[in-house]
Amino acid sequence: MNASVPLPAGHLSGAPLTALAPMQDVTDLAFMRVIAHYGAPDYFFTEFFRVHVQSRPEKHILRSIDENTTGRPVFAQLIGEDLFQLERTARELLRHPVAGIDLNLGCPAPKVYKKNVGGGLLREPAKVGEILATLRAAVPGLFTVKMRIGFDDTANFDRILDLVNEHRVDLLTVHGRTVKEMYRSEVHYDWIAHAVARARCPVLANGNVLSAARAATILSDTRAAGVMIGRHAIRNPWIFRPCREQFAGQPVTRLSLADVRDYIERLYRATLQPGLLERYHVNKMKKYLNFVGQSVDPTGAFLHDMRRVESEAELFLICDRHLIAGEAGSREFAPEPYPGVIARPNCETPTAEADGCSLETITA
Ligand SMILES: Cc1cc2nc3c(=O)[nH]c(=O)nc-3n(C[C@H](O)[C@H](O)[C@H](O)COP(=O)(O)O)c2cc1C
Repeated sequence: MNASVPLPAGHLSGAPLTALAPMQDVTDLAFMRVIAHYGAPDYFFTEFFRVHVQSRPEKHILRSIDENTTGRPVFAQLIGEDLFQLERTARELLRHPVAGIDLNLGCPAPKVYKKNVGGGLLREPAKVGEILATLRAAVPGLFTVKMRIGFDDTANFDRILDLVNEHRVDLLTVHGRTVKEMYRSEVHYDWIAHAVARARCPVLANGNVLSAARAATILSDTRAAGVMIGRHAIRNPWIFRPCREQFAGQPVTRLSLADVRDYIERLYRATLQPGLLERYHVNKMKKYLNFVGQSVDPTGAFLHDMRRVESEAELFLICDRHLIAGEAGSREFAPEPYPGVIARPNCETPTAEADGCSLETITA
């Protein structure tokens, strides 16, 4: 029997929690540090550690735990289905300074769910029960789950929520879509509200939390304990601070396009990898900027120009033109994406690893 361990305190005592969503190839140490610079969430989650017979915790993901200087706790996420290997990996990760172990029950990439891991497990509640029992027994501290509301439909949702209760999961994140709905459908906040009512642990609401104002509405509609934010923190790394302001009833800080220029430069420098050719790094930047550009201008002109640059110099020239020249610097960075300005991924990276929830495969 595990003694119950309290969740780490958030920034604001008694206020709803905020978390940065795990995002493969995005939420590494560099990105977490950039987010922390602009106002850290209460919790971070690593991108998923793959778990199978030959797996060892990926070194670059371990860095986001071992070298965490954000001042906020990091949960380590696992994806897998082999009970013995999940237990082994959880025990290995517990030797690192993790806030807890998180299980991925949501990844919708066919390559992943066909192996019956991530979102694929939502088709097999009995297997989910075995995994939860195994991890609960292996993790003396916090054990958390991140799930979607079902695979094709919500037929198994209650059964899995009951398993979450039976195995005393400490925190549940619900992304309010089925696996088949991927990333673009409406988010079913009514099903998140259903989970909040049925689960005995706190629930984080996830999916299209676009802004502080949206976060407040979603919290009031679902009664969730907090929000988890993914793509909209790539677009707007300040988002957690306005959330806290909104929750505290304070005026929400507005951002200018000049602030965005600062973010792009910081992200560019933070994510540089030794030995990576400049044009590859520029192409990697485009994947983040696809999201940022949604709030720069209503015509998508920044996105149009940004997608055509090939060098660092061209990239920053475009940034200067759209973000600081003339009146631009004092224009507002929209708190929510402009309607119709789509963050489509580009296909220019030579090393596309589209095996999971990578930026290669996801559009907003
Ligand atoms: C690029 C990318 C990578 C992702 N990788 C993961 C992951 O490793 N683990 C996970 O549980 N979810 C992953 N997700 C899903 C997000 O955590 C989140 O549930 C989803 O994006 C919906 O939230 P949002 O609307 O705030 O982005 C990923 C999403 C994106 C966009």
